[in-house]
Amino acid sequence: MPGRGGVPGECEWRFSALDNVCPHRQGPLGQGWIEGDVVVCPWHSWAFDVKTGLATYPENERVGVFPLRIEGENVLINIESRREGESSSERHMD
Ligand code: FES
Repeated sequence: MPGRGGVPGECEWRFSALDNVCPHRQGPLGQGWIEGDVVVCPWHSWAFDVKTGLATYPENERVGVFPLRIEGENVLINIESRREGESSSERHMD
């Protein structure tokens, strides 16, 4: 798209797996939106870092992060190893 920047043919993919339930009032984080490196809850706008699960607002809140890995075209999420506030994997694909 003219004026939108970016290089045609290059694409960066990053993956993170977080709990879908917001710790505030159990809002559906998966229906929220991404702003930079955070996902924003659609109900009352609490925001969580997609890599660490730590809240950017309000402080001292967090959601669980699940470790993941990429195998070929598959994203494998270890749902039995939920981690509180640790980084999940990222992958950059060209
Ligand atoms: S339920 Fe997510 S911010 Fe309130």
